[in-house]
Amino acid sequence: MIFFLPILACLLSLATALTQHVHDASFIPDAVLHVTAKNVSAGGVYRLTTLVNGTSPGPTLHLPENKVIWIRVYNDMPDKNTTMHWHGLSQAAYPFSDGTPLASQWPIPPLHFFDYELQLEKGSAGTYFYHSHVGFQASSATGALIVKDSGKLPYQYHGERIVHITELWNQSDSIIERGLTNTTFKWSGESLAFMVNGNGISNYSVADPSTASVDVIDVKPSRSYRFRFIGGTALSLVAMAFENHTNLEVIEADGSYTKPTPTEFLQIGNGQRYSVLFKTKSCKELKTLGKTDFYFQIETRERPAMNRDYAILRYSTDGCSIKPSSALPTNAYPKKAPLTLPPTVNGFLDYKLKPLKDNNFPTCKEVTRRVTINMQQVLDGYILWQDNNVSWVQDSFDTLPHLTTPRKPYLVSLYENETAYLPSYTAAVKNAGVDPETQTFPAKIGEVVEIILQNYGARAIDNETAGGLDAHPWHAHGKHFYDLGAGPGKWSADVMEQQLHGTTPVLRDTTMVYRYNATTQPNQASGWRAWRLRIEEPGVWMIHCHTLQHMIMGMQTVWVMGDAKDILTVPKLEVEGFLTYGGNVYGNATHHPTRIHFSELGL
Ligand code: C2O
Ligand code: CU
Repeated sequence: MIFFLPILACLLSLATALTQHVHDASFIPDAVLHVTAKNVSAGGVYRLTTLVNGTSPGPTLHLPENKVIWIRVYNDMPDKNTTMHWHGLSQAAYPFSDGTPLASQWPIPPLHFFDYELQLEKGSAGTYFYHSHVGFQASSATGALIVKDSGKLPYQYHGERIVHITELWNQSDSIIERGLTNTTFKWSGESLAFMVNGNGISNYSVADPSTASVDVIDVKPSRSYRFRFIGGTALSLVAMAFENHTNLEVIEADGSYTKPTPTEFLQIGNGQRYSVLFKTKSCKELKTLGKTDFYFQIETRERPAMNRDYAILRYSTDGCSIKPSSALPTNAYPKKAPLTLPPTVNGFLDYKLKPLKDNNFPTCKEVTRRVTINMQQVLDGYILWQDNNVSWVQDSFDTLPHLTTPRKPYLVSLYENETAYLPSYTAAVKNAGVDPETQTFPAKIGEVVEIILQNYGARAIDNETAGGLDAHPWHAHGKHFYDLGAGPGKWSADVMEQQLHGTTPVLRDTTMVYRYNATTQPNQASGWRAWRLRIEEPGVWMIHCHTLQHMIMGMQTVWVMGDAKDILTVPKLEVEGFLTYGGNVYGNATHHPTRIHFSELGL
């Protein structure tokens, strides 16, 4: 097997061993997150919800660039696994710290904790979020993660506001997960409530009026703010805009600064982030408008049911000689929607965003290989999503016995040299990029891979769903990709190059594969997106649709980047504790974790 010899060579050549550190009471992490599951009320609805430090969203983390960071994550749930993923933090995760169960690490067992080791790249200042990567937990176990600017800020503003959007569900995570993975398939239903920073009024029937209350975003007149929008939704693409405030300027997308790009509204897919420069009205303008409260309206796009929710933008008028107009109610919605938001824009901001600084975009001559990922819904006993005929799920052996994805994280298998899980590059190249044995996508360090994401009409056994299409927000772990844009129908190199002409692609970590139509014929290509990715960061990285329901139903790919000598940077003996579920790198009430510090390798 291709990895066998390199592993041995690698072990012998490493002379210096890393020190094992006991993370006892003297070890002080930079942040501590506690994951719990509690029956709480939000938006007026009671639900068993996965929380971080008791709330959803959890606390905002403000982290510095260019420094080793330790985040301790406690799984305080007695009966469920969890992990934490640092969404969009390109290259930040040291081995076993990316939070993908059964890809880069074992999940954190119930009543255990794990210390995540991260190093945030210089130049990564921007807007991110963290979320659990187990099942449906990410719908609520999430929080904003802001990487602080180190040097001079490229844009000036008086203050910042976070607009973190999530959806509220009326069933527990486990019920939703079970429904989606059962032979008697049960859909989660569409979400009937958007939450802005954890606040909103659900369109499910309200059981607890005390929490049915909209978010209030406070601002002052004549200021400029950086609004950081976080698409933390599980399922829905969302459109949103502010009443009377339409001069928005996008300055950051997924953690990279862009040239200022004007827009009147935003359309955000699950996992995407934007920073927007927002100028507030002067006292005089507020006087003319005769109000100091404005609606922020948010709506579902590309789903069969439309949900509409609100937040309030509220001015403090100290210093203005205006009587505050009657404030908008926070516990009720307007009878009639104040805004008419546009229908889905297929290609929102595509080709418009430009990087603020040169981003080393690889030309088409640099591309070494193209991998097309054909995505399709399949109804065949189970309802699944497949990418190049592979359905990749976390718990396949428990819940989906017909699937063959592994019982062990790939990174663990690589360390243990279990040949069954070592991908063959040659076999993959002959098989649309997927190694047929391990069902992973191997890539070599130094390659520049062009990834074509191609949407196909559902191949189905029942007439109602045959030809069905969805919009999919595709996300890449690890290094960010250059987004080459999108179009309807089947991808073609000519069309793509034509559309690209004269534009400067930006680095992103999540972009949309649109559907263009609600249905088409079964097996009919309908919509593509293209990326270019420099393969530079060794490791096991996932690339997947960020719709949580689709992930649970298999719409995920696992990429093994680099070969053994690139990935297995320390001898097996030193990482033993990572290789078993609940190994000694996981602490609990009776023992401290014992850990090497990968950062001591100087990686
Ligand atoms: Cu936010 Cu694997 O993703
Ligand atoms: Cu999807």
